[in-house]
Amino acid sequence: MHLQVLILPGDGIGTEVTCEAVRVLKHVAKVYGHELTLTEGLLGGVAIHKKGTPLPDETVKLALEADATLLGAVGLPEFDNVAPEKRPERGLLGIRKALGVYANLRPVRAYSALLNSSPLKNHLVEGTDMIIVRELTGGIYYGTPRGISGEGAETRAVNTMTYTRPEIERVARMAFTLARARRRKLASVDKSNVLENSQLWRKVVTEVAAEFPDVELEHILVDNCAMQLILNPRRFDIVLTENMFGDILSDEGAVLAGSIGMLPSASIGARKPNGAWVGLYEPVHGSAPDIAGQNKANPLGAIGSVAAMLEYSFGLKEEAAAVNNAIEKVLESGRVTADLKPAGPPASTTDVGQAVCSFIGGK
Ligand code: IPM
Ligand code: MN
Repeated sequence: MHLQVLILPGDGIGTEVTCEAVRVLKHVAKVYGHELTLTEGLLGGVAIHKKGTPLPDETVKLALEADATLLGAVGLPEFDNVAPEKRPERGLLGIRKALGVYANLRPVRAYSALLNSSPLKNHLVEGTDMIIVRELTGGIYYGTPRGISGEGAETRAVNTMTYTRPEIERVARMAFTLARARRRKLASVDKSNVLENSQLWRKVVTEVAAEFPDVELEHILVDNCAMQLILNPRRFDIVLTENMFGDILSDEGAVLAGSIGMLPSASIGARKPNGAWVGLYEPVHGSAPDIAGQNKANPLGAIGSVAAMLEYSFGLKEEAAAVNNAIEKVLESGRVTADLKPAGPPASTTDVGQAVCSFIGGK
């Protein structure tokens, strides 16, 4: 198979973890006999430096031409006090929107080798296996009106949480379809005791559920969900939620997985004009400027995102499983980065990438 992949390393540790993810992708292509064409583009702070904008048109064009895009992370501390429209993060929001990838799948698994890396009690975390399905191109991240106006005591800031019925329907259908291939349980998360937006969310999800009578639906308020995730994570299979709630809950999920460095993600749902699926793959963690450039960052979230790409964009299930199995073997071997609190000296980002390749082996 011919795989054409765009690489957007971005900022901070994004470049380091992406380098290891690409190493693994190249290795898989070699071992399984696929032809790989890689292109590289600019996104985030690095794009602001080189092109004056966090999302150059060229990057969108490259992403639309590629079969799939692998992204590192965006964000640099020098932009901390800059208006949202000039920040690196706006580039990330822009590319998600430009590609139309409305469903962000964030699997959260408790690996047995990492039970002691989680600060939670082992018996609570053990066996956790869920996918957070985060709506990715709507909600308060994109709603208008937005902005800051006035001065002094008159200063006002506005953001708007908006969803239309079709936006909720399509992500709900995606989540129910995923639930069918798993334990057939779906928890839809909202704040319908306060927000009209959530009332619509709940209503539409309930309607879509009628198309999936074999999937058990529960509605759960986001505050309670935050608590249940820690108290009883095993009760969750598919967790469906809007953009900002999904952002917050997935960081909480990272505690169950042992480290945020472990979490991969797949953003899917859209098709190109020629009918091909669009896929954007990125680890859930950010650019972590505090440890950038030190070869310390955990690349397994980025490498897991390559596995997701192989599965969702290319339908290469065997290759995806080989990567995921290699990740587990690396965890069992204890050659892991400092965030996973290894018993011995921590491995470097590069060590981990190489270890994944060697566990995939040659065929
Ligand atoms: C994530 C990140 C992004 C988000 C930021 C960097 C804009 O936190 O992917 O979870 O909020 O979506
Ligand atoms: Mn986040």
